[in-house]
Amino acid sequence: MHIGCPKEIKPQEFRVGMTPNAAREAVHHGHKVTIETGAGAGAGFNDDDYIAAGAQIAESAADIFASADMIVKVKEPQPVERKMLREGQILFTYLHLAPDPEQTKDLLGSGATCIAYETVTDDRGGLPLLAPMSEVAGRLAPQVGAWTLQKANGGRGVLMGGVPGVGPARVVVIGGGVVGTHAARIAAGMGADVTVLDRSLPRLRYLDDTFGGQFKTSYASAGNTIDLAREADMIVGAVLIPGAAAPKLISRAQLAELKPGAALVDVAIDQGGCFETSKPTTHENPVYEVDGIMHYCVANMPGAVARTSTIALGNATMPFMLALADKGWRKACEDDPHLLNGLNVHAGKLTYYAVGKALGIDVLSPALALKA
Ligand SMILES: NC(=O)c1ccc[n+]([C@@H]2O[C@H](COP(=O)([O-])OP(=O)(O)OC[C@H]3O[C@@H](n4cnc5c(N)ncnc54)[C@H](O)[C@@H]3O)[C@@H](O)[C@H]2O)c1
Repeated sequence: MHIGCPKEIKPQEFRVGMTPNAAREAVHHGHKVTIETGAGAGAGFNDDDYIAAGAQIAESAADIFASADMIVKVKEPQPVERKMLREGQILFTYLHLAPDPEQTKDLLGSGATCIAYETVTDDRGGLPLLAPMSEVAGRLAPQVGAWTLQKANGGRGVLMGGVPGVGPARVVVIGGGVVGTHAARIAAGMGADVTVLDRSLPRLRYLDDTFGGQFKTSYASAGNTIDLAREADMIVGAVLIPGAAAPKLISRAQLAELKPGAALVDVAIDQGGCFETSKPTTHENPVYEVDGIMHYCVANMPGAVARTSTIALGNATMPFMLALADKGWRKACEDDPHLLNGLNVHAGKLTYYAVGKALGIDVLSPALALKA
């Protein structure tokens, strides 16, 4: 198969769909790999790294879209890219179609077979191609929160680990899923006093069993949440209710009860945020203040560490990318129901029920799409 990887063109996106290692594996499996010149630069990979891996370099995205059997990317295709997709071509990338009727219409019109990273599943009910980015955002949250707590950045002037004779920062993590667990581990590793709140008792049990010595757990009732928030130097928002906007867990009125200069890091901002005063920010201007409380609300946190994120995403996508290339999408999806769950669009038909429901479009069952 001819696999093509164009440079990402969405603003502020520095990741790339294929690492040189992924290219090397694909070439080793007998496939031809073409990378757009400069595609890996934002993640610290140059054209020579890809050439050494056996890939070829194309001068433009147009060359890649015109010739590749499968396009491997990171972000959803932008309008100019959607125009270049062809019937029969495979697109393997994040799509997030439910809130995006324009993109859905274009992908249906293209005739391509589009497999979305975010809906591929695993045996444990997880989302293996979303998890690496949650791990990155979770581990980054205490790092950016610690920076926000510094006096010059508007924060309380509190050091995460304290020093002998001075207590550590108090960190409250709301939501103990993938983001929350990784945030809590790193905050605890920095020496902070950490409590994780969740509404799921099985999750709290798991966290207590696994990390009992490193951080505390608490049930996320409204009362516990505000009691802990009042004492906190940093609050990390890491909740998720699948398919729904994030619940607002701290209101504007409650900001007055928090410590002046406390840092709110709202990782859940991509689902609308879990603090009433959260609004999306960018890496250029990540932090703003409301009522004396600092808010960090960057919607694409993994972009700050594009190299780590690219390699982490590449590790997760590689087996699926190789299966698609080795077997073709039909056989690969027939053999792996989790990959089939990633199928969102095939030959002009929508094949993912939640997207169909959100956009009011008829859905062809993925099983029938395999036979179509
Ligand atoms: N900003 C970014 O760059 C970025 C990057 C990755 C993930 N995210 C977002 O981070 C959020 C968390 O992702 P995740 O992968 O950890 O999800 P997850 O499903 O692994 O964990 C979410 C946790 O929230 C808990 N929860 C739900 N409602 C709650 C409530 N009211 N109070 C307390 N806990 C509650 C759930 O029980 C679950 O344990 C999502 O919104 C995700 O989209 C953002």
